[in-house]
Amino acid sequence: MSEVGNGKIAVVTGAGGTLCSAMAINLASQGYKVALLGRSLDKLKKVEEIILAEGGIAISVGVDVSDEASVIAAKDTVEKELGVCTVLINGAGGNQNDALTNITEYDERELLDDGSVKGFFNLKMDIFNSVIQINTMGTVIPCFVFGRSMAANKQGSIINIASMNSYRPLSKVGAYGIAKAGIANFTQWLAAYLAPANIRVNAIAPGFFLNDRSRKIMFEADGSHSARAKNVLSHTPLKRFGEAPELLGCMNWLISEEAAGFVTGIVVPIDGGFLATSGI
Ligand SMILES: NC(=O)c1ccc[n+]([C@@H]2O[C@H](COP(=O)([O-])OP(=O)(O)OC[C@H]3O[C@@H](n4cnc5c(N)ncnc54)[C@H](OP(=O)(O)O)[C@@H]3O)[C@@H](O)[C@H]2O)c1
Repeated sequence: MSEVGNGKIAVVTGAGGTLCSAMAINLASQGYKVALLGRSLDKLKKVEEIILAEGGIAISVGVDVSDEASVIAAKDTVEKELGVCTVLINGAGGNQNDALTNITEYDERELLDDGSVKGFFNLKMDIFNSVIQINTMGTVIPCFVFGRSMAANKQGSIINIASMNSYRPLSKVGAYGIAKAGIANFTQWLAAYLAPANIRVNAIAPGFFLNDRSRKIMFEADGSHSARAKNVLSHTPLKRFGEAPELLGCMNWLISEEAAGFVTGIVVPIDGGFLATSGI
């Protein structure tokens, strides 16, 4: 086990998921004691088992990151069992099918409410709002709760998880776009605000990575790429989806005081070139 983490504590939200499980396992392999936070304990436990089997230290803590009382309870558990964190990765989030339209522009049929299309005017505002709550407030609240102890300790590094939607809207996913744009803006705001507390705040913006939910959208039953996948790949110069390990170099750079001690308030795209081209 490497000594980079040297027993320091890292909190990773969404640690049962595709991207943040890889981050949590990598942090543990560097000697961080890792608190795995997420909704489903069974998913967290699988990650915990991997870390323990590799000789690392991890605990699993169930939490709803959009609920302040739940995050405070999780913080109390983490601080009692491990201590105050110096690294906070805010990875919990994602989209919900009921917040997506199935058309890319207004269609008069949506006014009929007969299910023939699912347009903006057919969405349920409470579900739209919950995507914003989970992704945006689900990042703000852990920063508020864990950040307070980090500020008292006068050290720390926070990484939020943004998206291509943070830079420009993508079709069909209006709520998720608002949420992720909010995360980029909040990352900059909090970076400036917490600089006197010696806490750096940055974000990683993954391009298109496969996870359990997006796999269903990107592949047909026969394993071929869906129309959405073809569209994404045709706008991605490297012509493939990202893989979770491809985020780790950026994560490790951003949390390193030696390598990135003067870096705060940035949002780093890891996107196979998606932002570099309009596709035309
Ligand atoms: N995959 C991509 O292409 C991509 C691109 C850009 C940004 N991102 C962002 O990267 C992050 C990780 O994505 P991923 O692909 O790894 O997705 P994922 O596999 O679905 O993981 C997301 C995790 O977040 C947890 N979570 C969701 N809502 C939560 C809540 N209210 N409280 C606590 N935990 C909650 C989920 O737990 P449960 O399963 O228990 O609900 C899940 O384990 C997300 O913020 C996502 O928006 C992903």
